[in-house]
Amino acid sequence: MCGIVGYTGHREAVPVLIDGLRRLEYRGYDSAGIVVPENGGLVLEKRAGTLDVLEQALSNSRFPATSGIGHTRWATHGAPTDVNAHPHTDCGGRFAVVHNGIIENYRQLRNWLKAEGHVFKSDTDTEVLPHLIEHYYRDDLYQAVRRALEQIEGSFAVLTLVTTEPGRLIVARRDSPLVVGLGEGENFIASDIPALLTYTRDTYLLNDGEMAEVTPDFIKVSDLNGNPVHKEIFCVNWECEQAEKGGYEHFMLKEIHEQPRALRDTLRGRIDQDGRRVVLKELNVDPDTVRNLKKIFITACGTAFHAGVVGKYIIEKMTRIPVEVDIASEFRYRDPLINPGDLVVVVSQSGETADTRAALREARRRGAHVIAITNVVGSSVAREADDVLYTWAGPEIAVASTKAYITQLAAFYLLALWLAGERGTLPDDEREAILHALREIDTGVSTLLADADQIAALAQRYKDQHGLFFIGRGLDFAVAMEGSLKLKEISYIHAEAYPAGELKHGTLALITEGVPVIALATQPDLFEKALSNVKEVKARGAEVVALTFEGHHDIEDLGDHLVYLPATHPVLAPILAVVPLQLFAYYAAIARGCSVDKPRNLAKSVTVE
Ligand code: AGP
Repeated sequence: MCGIVGYTGHREAVPVLIDGLRRLEYRGYDSAGIVVPENGGLVLEKRAGTLDVLEQALSNSRFPATSGIGHTRWATHGAPTDVNAHPHTDCGGRFAVVHNGIIENYRQLRNWLKAEGHVFKSDTDTEVLPHLIEHYYRDDLYQAVRRALEQIEGSFAVLTLVTTEPGRLIVARRDSPLVVGLGEGENFIASDIPALLTYTRDTYLLNDGEMAEVTPDFIKVSDLNGNPVHKEIFCVNWECEQAEKGGYEHFMLKEIHEQPRALRDTLRGRIDQDGRRVVLKELNVDPDTVRNLKKIFITACGTAFHAGVVGKYIIEKMTRIPVEVDIASEFRYRDPLINPGDLVVVVSQSGETADTRAALREARRRGAHVIAITNVVGSSVAREADDVLYTWAGPEIAVASTKAYITQLAAFYLLALWLAGERGTLPDDEREAILHALREIDTGVSTLLADADQIAALAQRYKDQHGLFFIGRGLDFAVAMEGSLKLKEISYIHAEAYPAGELKHGTLALITEGVPVIALATQPDLFEKALSNVKEVKARGAEVVALTFEGHHDIEDLGDHLVYLPATHPVLAPILAVVPLQLFAYYAAIARGCSVDKPRNLAKSVTVE
């Protein structure tokens, strides 16, 4: 998720751009840049690192330009370097573009443009845009941008300018946010409202498929086909800090609600057009290694470990390859029986967790092929692994991991389906059914997010409990582990996840009158067993919240509270089931007055042992 700013008006543009980028710093980024038109050319400065590095590069210059664009980058395609930073320009240095999103077909476009004689400088997907605009430009930037975007498959918030039309900015969006700020003799563009608040609270919120021509004196909004669109002014009444959270009270809630978009971005370009196969171009595992794979290890910490437990179940189910999953701080010291040719998957949102990094090095030392699933391009695990399967969740700021977890699940589904496809261990119709459901899963998450009130009420009911249990079998147990950690780490209520079938071997002694038990029962082949476990705890007085798919009437007699999941392929249930558990933890923490985004004793990234 990159930050975008643009200005056109009567002020010197560079200070306005830098101020706007400064207000986007909360989102996290790895490089930044600005460009302004001057003397018929472009003045372009961009640097890897923080905004201070860019400001230092600009410090000895004054720029009279009164329009320009700027960008803070959260790298997806191409490491965080000066040359990969935005803005990007065409061959002749006349067109400049900043972009937030993922261009799925950038390889094909890049090859075609190169064949047309265009010369590329960076490794980014974005750089195809200025060259496309250059290709289509006939003295009207608006038409050239429109034609260029017709070639783009994927998501974009794009902002462009050309030296021959100073003061005129063209913007467009599909699945990435863009806002136009309305001023007096000046106008502003940003990916996020905080970048505008110094200057204006009157805005046009662009919708998907809309674009705009912006000059100091007018704004013309249209759809991507050029048809005019009427916009109502949206007056922002948020204060800056609230605006950084997109109007949500906490980053955690914002990130929970970003999950549908994060899933779409993580799946984007990784399922082929007709939805029959997974395509993971970023993996360099040779086909023989895949076919001869004897063992897979998964290792991570905390929430990433819980994603790995789901990964174990689904990879074994789809590929019949034995999978061991370990907490990284255990894995690195247990002298793991890794043989050359084994596959080790390390999972880390930050890519900097000390135990996970150490586990990665241990795996490589023993000859394993290491795949990293991480959310940060250029992070330590990304650099040290043999292959990287990035999650495109965007910056995750709350200490409690939510959108990173759900996109780690998506990455594991892609990996499991890809391995199964390479090894022929899953019937085509089954693989296609799962892929079809996976492509729709973001709508199921959105449905659950819209029903948060029920979960908030349950959180209010249990906020003063001394302890809760999360129980489940198989995939449901894996998700129960994550639900338990979420509740503990932000509401400080003790919770324990337990294999539902194991309770009777001791822990059932703790189930007494009124003890809340969150029972996950999503797996058809285990439903009767889950039902008997619900009966087991009910008989001891437990109060049961049952998470299940619509239609399981038997459990309706038993569950004191029922949370229904939208229909999907049962193997994908973890992606949906975790959402109510995240919301439950969040609202319990709110009800207890806890510091949701920065829980006591915890850090976002544990870079020490
Ligand atoms: C999750 O909510 C926690 N913040 C924590 O368990 C986290 O998942 C763990 O520290 C691993 O972090 P990583 O994914 O950045 O490696």
